Amino acid sequence: MAGESFLSFPENFIWGAATSAYQIEGAWNEDGKGMSIWDVFSREPGKTINGETGDTAADHYHRWEEDVELMAQLKLNTYRFSVSWPRILPSGTGVINPAGLDFYDRLVDGLLARGIQPAPTLFHWDLPLPLHEKGGWPSRETAHYFAEYAQVLARRLGDRVKLWITHNEPFVTAFAGYLMGNHAPGLNDPLAAGRAIHTLLLSHGYAVEALRANTPAGTQVGITLNLAPVHPATGSEEDRLAAWRYDGASNRLFLDPILRGCYPEDVAAVLSAMMPEILPGDMETISTPLDFLGANYYSRAVVRHDPAFPFIEASPLQPEGNEYSQMWEIYPPGIYELLKRLWEDYQVKNIIVTENGVPVPDGIDFDGRVRDQRRVRYLRDHLAQVHRALSEGIPVGGYMVWSLLDNFEWALGYQMRFGLIHVDFQTLRRTIKDSGRWYAQVIQENGLHLTGSNPYLPC
Ligand code: FCB
Repeated sequence: MAGESFLSFPENFIWGAATSAYQIEGAWNEDGKGMSIWDVFSREPGKTINGETGDTAADHYHRWEEDVELMAQLKLNTYRFSVSWPRILPSGTGVINPAGLDFYDRLVDGLLARGIQPAPTLFHWDLPLPLHEKGGWPSRETAHYFAEYAQVLARRLGDRVKLWITHNEPFVTAFAGYLMGNHAPGLNDPLAAGRAIHTLLLSHGYAVEALRANTPAGTQVGITLNLAPVHPATGSEEDRLAAWRYDGASNRLFLDPILRGCYPEDVAAVLSAMMPEILPGDMETISTPLDFLGANYYSRAVVRHDPAFPFIEASPLQPEGNEYSQMWEIYPPGIYELLKRLWEDYQVKNIIVTENGVPVPDGIDFDGRVRDQRRVRYLRDHLAQVHRALSEGIPVGGYMVWSLLDNFEWALGYQMRFGLIHVDFQTLRRTIKDSGRWYAQVIQENGLHLTGSNPYLPC
């Protein structure tokens, strides 16, 4: 077709979709599962939209076989999910709940039987409540409990799971949970947030060691960070410095310790009152070399100098001129910029995009289809930018869409639909959206048609 171009991806490229336990599983009190901080937080009045909780969510705990079947229809070669720590260790430490382990064991086998590689994340925000009561992430002890949990999982699943992610977005765990308070456990305590950052990073290092010690050679271990290029709102020196500070708190605060073994000096200086004592050996543990870095990308940040904003004196704004989704500005070149930076500034040898996606209001049309063309466009435009990075030799090993299914979007509840698969939260019925069919075609062809009529609409 005239003007049509096809962008092909490398052989063995990881094509995936991602979810997390609290957002999809439901079954919050079944088969011996313990309570997590999200089970408590979501019940507190005013914490989530309409008081919604993950009690049932997408009911994946009971419907996982149907969901694996749908993943096969989407042609995924990898599925990123998270393990619910309180399902495995109801108290966070000590006594193991066999039914919890059995659930993930069956899921892993079900995936492998369909040729789908399991990629579990150990922690996607649902801390066991008893560990919160002992001090939670601000307490160093939690890092040791995390290593214990990693060991339990590695011993049970390590013969079959070849790709592990320790944490999902420790920035969000620390800042949304302990500083902003809009996520569980809902604190507004700068000191707790600072301590949480260090414990989270330390726990990551311990977990890498535990996973490596209990899995066969060749197993790949990494961490997932939420990362975003930061642009100054104007060309002024003030805004430029503000953007650098913002970049420090959101990106470098996690990239530097993990990939360089040190906290960025400028950020440490600003946050010094928040930071805990760093013990000898901590930074070596935190910077244990990884097999890959997981990067979640949704949008860029555009930032101005703002003395009213605590610590970093910088705040984000919404620039004019681009399309927006229900949550963010849509800015596809940002994913390219991010991948390039990880390669040029940090020499990351294997970058996996572990989340990329968009919340747009979509629903079932009269004929049963979900025509989510805005999502198709978002994914296509971002994938084209990933391809651009690949064509410049930047080592991107894979790409995963957030999310497989519509799910519980934390404090924003069920309003935000991110799925390739629509979920009717009354009946729990699943419907593959047009974006899901489109993605299946991309995976099947291992590449992307850029222009021309959309060849991916179902017949
Ligand atoms: C990421 C989270 C994921 C989901 C998406 C929209 O920050 O990892 O659970 O909420 O955002």
